[in-house]
Amino acid sequence: MKKCRRIAILTGGGDCPGINAVIRAVTKKAILQYGMEVIGIEDGYHGVIHNRFRKLEYNDVSGILTLGGTILGTSNTANPYHYPSKKNRKIEFNDVSVTAIANITNLGIECLVCVGGDGTLSIANGLSKDGVPLIGVPKTIDNDLRGTDITFGFDSAVSIATEGIDRLHSTAMSHHRVMIVELMGRNAGWIALHAGVAGGGDIILIPEIPYDVEIIAEKVRERNRRGKRFSIVVVAEGAKPKGGDIVIQRIVKESSDPIRLGGIGFVLGVQIEKMTGIETRTVVMGHLQRGGSPTPFDRVLATRLGTRAVDMIENREFGYMVGVKGESLVKVPLEDVAKGPRTIPLDDPLIEAARSVDTCFGD
Ligand code: F6P
Repeated sequence: MKKCRRIAILTGGGDCPGINAVIRAVTKKAILQYGMEVIGIEDGYHGVIHNRFRKLEYNDVSGILTLGGTILGTSNTANPYHYPSKKNRKIEFNDVSVTAIANITNLGIECLVCVGGDGTLSIANGLSKDGVPLIGVPKTIDNDLRGTDITFGFDSAVSIATEGIDRLHSTAMSHHRVMIVELMGRNAGWIALHAGVAGGGDIILIPEIPYDVEIIAEKVRERNRRGKRFSIVVVAEGAKPKGGDIVIQRIVKESSDPIRLGGIGFVLGVQIEKMTGIETRTVVMGHLQRGGSPTPFDRVLATRLGTRAVDMIENREFGYMVGVKGESLVKVPLEDVAKGPRTIPLDDPLIEAARSVDTCFGD
């Protein structure tokens, strides 16, 4: 079996805590255990298209385990199959995948490790089908990737969001207010559900369970009647009312997935204050959830995933993502990962547990 001598790694999509831990794991193991040469591609698929890369030596990745973000840079607009460029102030999209693939071949890259979420790994699936030897590593704070129980970055985001909710409790209690905290997650409510339960949110609103604002208002009034003169509402950015729609913060025209969610917390704040007469304030956690150092859990997970990816390269197991199933790491075909995001099943035991401690989901 021909051994891989030169591999490359790129990080795509939104950054998150733990990416550098994966870069470190892949690079150190590839160099130390298998004598491979490692190339770091800059700014996700932009670097592949424009030949922006640098060699990664042991010392380049030493000391980055705890560092947030990605030393390679990232992009959530660079899709080689739908690549944006500006012409006469208008954005047009072209398929530049032939150039991207030629650049990978000319660089002598025998396997490309793509660290990313569903956008990055769907593109990886396309490149793999077009003949690029490739392995995916699951990364996103949203935890919405198919084929894995968990992605690295999620635990860190939940931990940051939980700290935010904890801090809102004391101020909500002191001022007898409703505090709404809006969390990320796109069209999946994993962060809101887990941080909401961990932070003892009274009302948790997730995209998977459309809400009725009257039920939310009644929950706030009922708490007041019981002497609880404050309430904490944890809302996922993708939550929507029954029969209603998501709130869009901005459209990123250059992106293949242009919708950026945000603002539902403010819409709800106005409604709840009007319906209950209780002062209501909204806090948006936003990109704070993606910043800073990874939790110990994410450092461990990133190290496990990165080192396993290198074993898969050595065994030439291309076209797969390394995923987590229970306690084990598994190989998941990239085409299964590319089938679309993984939302929370309505029978998720955590929803049931939350309901049984009187958490309202607005339904
Ligand atoms: O996918 C990660 C994520 O942080 C989502 O939770 C959020 O909707 C989106 O990225 C925000 O993207 P951007 O960084 O482009 O605002």
